[in-house]
Amino acid sequence: MTQPLQNFPLRIGAPRHVLLAGGIGITAITETARVLRRVKARYTLVYVGRSRDRMAYLEELTEIHGGDIRVHVDDEGTSLDAGALVDEIAADGPTELYMCGPIRLMDAVRRRWHDRGLPAADLRYETFGNSGWYEPEEFVVSIPALGIETTVGRGRSLLEALEDIGAEVISDCRKGECGLCQIRVVRVEGRIDHRDVFFSDEQKKASPKMCACVSRAVRAPSTGAPAVLTIDIP
Ligand code: FES
Repeated sequence: MTQPLQNFPLRIGAPRHVLLAGGIGITAITETARVLRRVKARYTLVYVGRSRDRMAYLEELTEIHGGDIRVHVDDEGTSLDAGALVDEIAADGPTELYMCGPIRLMDAVRRRWHDRGLPAADLRYETFGNSGWYEPEEFVVSIPALGIETTVGRGRSLLEALEDIGAEVISDCRKGECGLCQIRVVRVEGRIDHRDVFFSDEQKKASPKMCACVSRAVRAPSTGAPAVLTIDIP
């Protein structure tokens, strides 16, 4: 056993904090919000979800944070406009934004944050490896250099599938953050669903690498057959 790890530390003392949680990302944000309330910091908790019945702790959080929580619910037509949130922050003066949620939401915020020229150090995020651009699906991975081929199930990561068949891949965070598990893509019949936050958008487009712990392959839109990923392990 090890001690609990904290990879998403809060810096108390910023002039203002915005905490953005999408779906299950609220679990990484709940305690941070509680601490900010306890120390009487200036903060807003923004909680985003598809429907109220799928938003954990909603009632309790609303009770605790009162006027400091904003709730956006897709099926009530109040979806969050991520760009507008960043614009608000930019207009409001120095603010630290902490976020945890689906990759699309975090990506939209990161883009606008970058476009508005806001300080990179003031944007902090925690990722979880189960959200991508596409629904996870089964695909085939093949490593010709080792004569290995296996199927990666919907509920299994590429890294886990490779480990299952004895292929050695170095890893650490297993959340798409450190880049240690990167593998080289030789060919893909289908598309790659990059789910990491280690590679930049440019690298994801241009580089033949992907993070095996979170990224996956998905079939091309017009094909019924599962995607086939041919890779090399460094
Ligand atoms: S192990 Fe860190 S990005 Fe995959």
